[in-house]
Amino acid sequence: MNDDTILKSELENWWATGISDIRPGRIRLRGHEISELILDWDFVSVIWLMAMGTTPTDSQSRLFEAALVASVDHGPQAPSIAAARMAATCGIGLNSAMATGVNLLGDVHGGAGQQCVELLYEIRELEDSGVTAGEAAQKVVDAWRLRTKYIPGFGHRFHAYDPRRDPLLGLVDAAIAEGAVGGRYLRIGKEIEAILSQGRTRAIPMNVDGATAIIYAELGFPAPLARGVFALARSVGILAHAWEESNNGTRIKGPMPRSINPRYLGST
Ligand SMILES: CC(C)(COP(=O)(O)OP(=O)(O)OC[C@H]1O[C@@H](n2cnc3c(N)ncnc32)[C@H](O)[C@@H]1OP(=O)(O)O)[C@@H](O)C(=O)NCCC(=O)NCCS
Repeated sequence: MNDDTILKSELENWWATGISDIRPGRIRLRGHEISELILDWDFVSVIWLMAMGTTPTDSQSRLFEAALVASVDHGPQAPSIAAARMAATCGIGLNSAMATGVNLLGDVHGGAGQQCVELLYEIRELEDSGVTAGEAAQKVVDAWRLRTKYIPGFGHRFHAYDPRRDPLLGLVDAAIAEGAVGGRYLRIGKEIEAILSQGRTRAIPMNVDGATAIIYAELGFPAPLARGVFALARSVGILAHAWEESNNGTRIKGPMPRSINPRYLGST
């Protein structure tokens, strides 16, 4: 090989990708012509194809869609939405307002699905090593509790009982009955929920991140993708709120009305 060939090969490998094959007049994604995707695929299945690299079955796609729909919005009470609305009044474009909201999704708000999937996988691995069901969940939850008071995917600041939990888990039950998913992570999720509520007068039920984490684990998603797809779903609500706020005409809307000042705690 001469130097030119080596350089060309190095350049071709620089952004080598298994996702898209783009050439003049041609767009293929994960081996599918873009015309096929446009004409025959739905958006949710295309998200799966792009992120997971495989074609979902109808049942998988339905379950994935439900997790996405459940996550689209939680109103201006959610920091991701409030921040995007505030950003929209600052003279930036919708894309920047959306990025502001998405950037707030982290371990505590909106991003806990990732750790919850990790938790579910950790318990399953312990079971696979021979520890009995139930005991494995207790051991792993105890170990997590040494690191954090808050187990990801459970509890909610607003809802004593997250209204997204039951419909999502109902769909997992239906998918189990169809043979589309195994149901092991649903069982584990419910075990964690029972452990967290033991001895408490007020239960700590699963929240949307927990219920969707069960879905993502049942569907075989790697844990970090749970956060990625949550960000995709929440972007829908963020977009709608940023757009609504940008149409309100208010310029530079701060976090609270101008008539109220934050309490000053310094020396007088
Ligand atoms: C969502 C969250 C921030 C709400 O917290 P909060 O409203 O401040 O709840 P509090 O801190 O007042 O908790 C009330 C009690 O429930 C307990 N609790 C709440 N969430 C818990 C959790 N996920 N795991 C274990 N205990 C929890 C607290 O320890 C506290 O117990 P105490 O009264 O014995 O001290 C919290 O539940 C949490 O961090 N959950 C994990 C992260 C997560 O899933 N985020 C996504 C939210 S949709």
